[in-house]
Amino acid sequence: MASARPSQRLSRRRALQLGTAAGVLAPLGLAGAQITSSSQAKAQTGTTTAALPLHIQQARYTIADAPTEGLISTRPDGPPPVLRLKQGQPFAARVTNTLPDYTAMHWHGIRLDNAMDGVPYLTQFPIGPGESFDYHFTPMDAGTYWYHPHCMTMDQMAMGLTGVLVVEEAEDPGFDADIALNLRDFRLRPNGDWLKLWTARGAARSGTFGTVITANWDSDPVYEAPTGGLVRLRLAATDTARIYKPYVTGTNGQVIAADGHPLREAIDWPTDHAPALLSPGQRLDIALQMPRVEGAYIDVMTAFPGGPRRLARIRATGENLGRDLAELPALPANDVPEPDLANARVEDLVFGWTPEGGAPQNGYCGSLGYTFWSINRKPWPGDAADPETPGAGPLAVFNRGESVILRLRNESPNAHPIHLHGLVFRPLRSNKRSLPSNWTDTALLLKDEVIEVALVADNPGDWAFHCHVIEHQKTGLAGYIRVLA
Ligand code: C2O
Ligand code: CU
Ligand code: CU
Repeated sequence: MASARPSQRLSRRRALQLGTAAGVLAPLGLAGAQITSSSQAKAQTGTTTAALPLHIQQARYTIADAPTEGLISTRPDGPPPVLRLKQGQPFAARVTNTLPDYTAMHWHGIRLDNAMDGVPYLTQFPIGPGESFDYHFTPMDAGTYWYHPHCMTMDQMAMGLTGVLVVEEAEDPGFDADIALNLRDFRLRPNGDWLKLWTARGAARSGTFGTVITANWDSDPVYEAPTGGLVRLRLAATDTARIYKPYVTGTNGQVIAADGHPLREAIDWPTDHAPALLSPGQRLDIALQMPRVEGAYIDVMTAFPGGPRRLARIRATGENLGRDLAELPALPANDVPEPDLANARVEDLVFGWTPEGGAPQNGYCGSLGYTFWSINRKPWPGDAADPETPGAGPLAVFNRGESVILRLRNESPNAHPIHLHGLVFRPLRSNKRSLPSNWTDTALLLKDEVIEVALVADNPGDWAFHCHVIEHQKTGLAGYIRVLA
């Protein structure tokens, strides 16, 4: 690791921008416990909402057959908790780094102020060992989102630091239970020891898959919900590589939201023959009718090479509530601006192999030491490069409020879940399949697929734009888009 402080690796102009935009915090030490009494925290949040302390730390938990040490979470003995926010109400978190490596926290899918987006060098400095960073935002969109680091991303995500973030609707949507499943793998031996987190072979193909499939860090956990009740099941694919193919058996139900947003166009009820596709970064909200007989189970499944796997079960418990799916009001749409398709600017973005493999960036946020992938035939040097360095400028620059069509073209034989920060878009058409045009932040591009997506560039800032297969993100398939103020 270089000996320079992160700020010295940035151009002077960039450092000044970040310094004023995000407010860099000094190391806190033990005094970090006084969250709201710090005047700096108040000045930053602009509110007296107590900041939620999130201490990034090592954890211990039994995922395989024996306990695993050296997991990474925000608590010592289990997965990062589901964070429950309220639509339209301010949220603040003080993220404190107790690890020996740098970090930064990103709020995936949330439309927020660019300075709070958690991307090193683009929106803030990495959070050093012993340092904290105050995040604060008011979520405008309800739905299912998630949080994860955007620095040392490969290591910290693979070792556990991914959590579900729920933004509750301003009005109660009327469910009897709400169950979030954080779907991810771990690369562990049966005795709980770590396997290598990634491989060059995997990074150059579809990513390196885990050996233990989990929901909320457990294998096939059982949850309970009222007999005859209505359940909101939130699936979040937070794995670094796996594309899930979920479906539910033992009941009927309805897909009600995808990637946070209530559906504009219906998604068919997923079945074993036609499961949903849920790629890294994506979420699916499903309304389920619990069986009317106490003790009956619903199975949450995923199609899998070699036969289906069960991810979790939900057991009907207690008296029959006798509810019916038809009682549920439709979720209110989030307020997303409608692009002006007739006057939209079209930008081409091509994803593929890197022509000759440039030198990887070796910074505070970790490098895999290879470059395999490219956007517009150029590898981006890692996912946390100083954007002011020559050749590392934005992939595209949009005026604020401009309607844009992005033509996303996959020139490679591997699938890429393409994710854009800070803005939401919807697919217009694909050359391979019919896609419901629902608002999203992460679009899965299949082999040789071209998808056109539309958006209004209404949120100013530099927004990371990358594949959410983390081994791809870290080896060239990560850039950013600039929306002018
Ligand atoms: Cu979910 Cu740039 O990330
Ligand atoms: Cu994101
Ligand atoms: Cu990819």
